[in-house]
Amino acid sequence: MKTPKKLIDRFGRTVDYLRISITDRCDFRCVYCMAEDMTFLPRHQILSLEEIFILAKTFVELGVKKIRITGGEPLIRKGALDLLMQIGALEGLHELVLTTNGSQLITAAPILKAANVKRLNISLDTLDAAKFKELTRTGDLQTVLNGIDVAKKVGFERIKLNAVILKNRNHNEVCDLVQFAIDKEIDISFIEEMPLGVVEKHNRAEAYYSSDEIRADLENRFALKKSTDNTGGPSDYFSIPNTKTRVGFISPHSHNFCSTCNRVRLTVEGRLLLCLGNEHSIDLKAILRSSDMNSKNLKQAIIESMEIKPEKHEFNVNEQPIILRYMNMTGG
Ligand code: GTP
Ligand code: 5AD
Ligand code: SF4
Repeated sequence: MKTPKKLIDRFGRTVDYLRISITDRCDFRCVYCMAEDMTFLPRHQILSLEEIFILAKTFVELGVKKIRITGGEPLIRKGALDLLMQIGALEGLHELVLTTNGSQLITAAPILKAANVKRLNISLDTLDAAKFKELTRTGDLQTVLNGIDVAKKVGFERIKLNAVILKNRNHNEVCDLVQFAIDKEIDISFIEEMPLGVVEKHNRAEAYYSSDEIRADLENRFALKKSTDNTGGPSDYFSIPNTKTRVGFISPHSHNFCSTCNRVRLTVEGRLLLCLGNEHSIDLKAILRSSDMNSKNLKQAIIESMEIKPEKHEFNVNEQPIILRYMNMTGG
């Protein structure tokens, strides 16, 4: 039988977007993402760069058109830039994109451009240096701002900021963050916090600040116009007339976007996760490292995994998280 060229799940959704977490490690400890004291995976448990490349290539052969590299912080993995170069050259891939905390961009941005990375998403939750330190626990705001400037100069197709908004921590900064994006001529997405892993610094129900509240705040200062733009991700976009900036809302709680889900995630342990908000997964590392590994078996397992892709995520900020894995395992 011929291998189909497309991945389609049982709800008829085509999966053409793969998010690859190339490390669970990070130089930041964002309060919504990690606990203060984290244990990271030992080396033998994580995929080698060669194994990640084999998987990326296999997914592209199965119809994946967009690959996003994530972490932890992807740019702190040794050899990340060489891997990006290799993936960026894959025939059939339309878009290689990256999500980063921005800490390494001053030196990495030119190499990312050379590796054919088309768009960058950079996390930035606040413009206040002290608050930045509080939210990331270890990050330095000025380094990230300088990194954004270098990335701008290098010239990617688009740069998007990601801001996770928490009530009473940074919700009063949404207008300033949009003004910053306008001044830099880049996009920005606001994200509702998702309950993955147990965090200690805040209560997620109390910190919930919905996309609708953010939008209402922004409308006091900016004219938001609904846009039909779609990056193939979950952001719902608005434009601001006379600016180059689009404002996106990622609303896993208030505006569920699962019906158009087109993505799966590969963790650095080699687990193919079929939904961010569920544990359904298959172990691709076991297949890669088995004695009868061949490309046909690997493809067959990936095609069959479509049968267990869940219909939607169920998040409840009022309960203890059901998903105990932290966000650094999937990079979002
Ligand atoms: P583009 O649209 O390609 O720019 O990317 P993106 O915004 O989807 O990716 P990014 O890595 O910047 O992620 C932004 C936020 O969206 C993160 O908090 C992710 O966890 C969240 N996100 C992305 N995909 C999904 C999804 O399938 N389900 C849920 N619940 N959240 C998602
Ligand atoms: N909920 C929502 N977004 C999160 N991110 C990290 N942890 C969470 C969470 N619990 C965001 C980061 C980054 C993106 C990949 O995911 O801020 O921008
Ligand atoms: Fe690191 Fe991103 Fe998690 Fe912050 S959100 S700790 S930058 S992986």
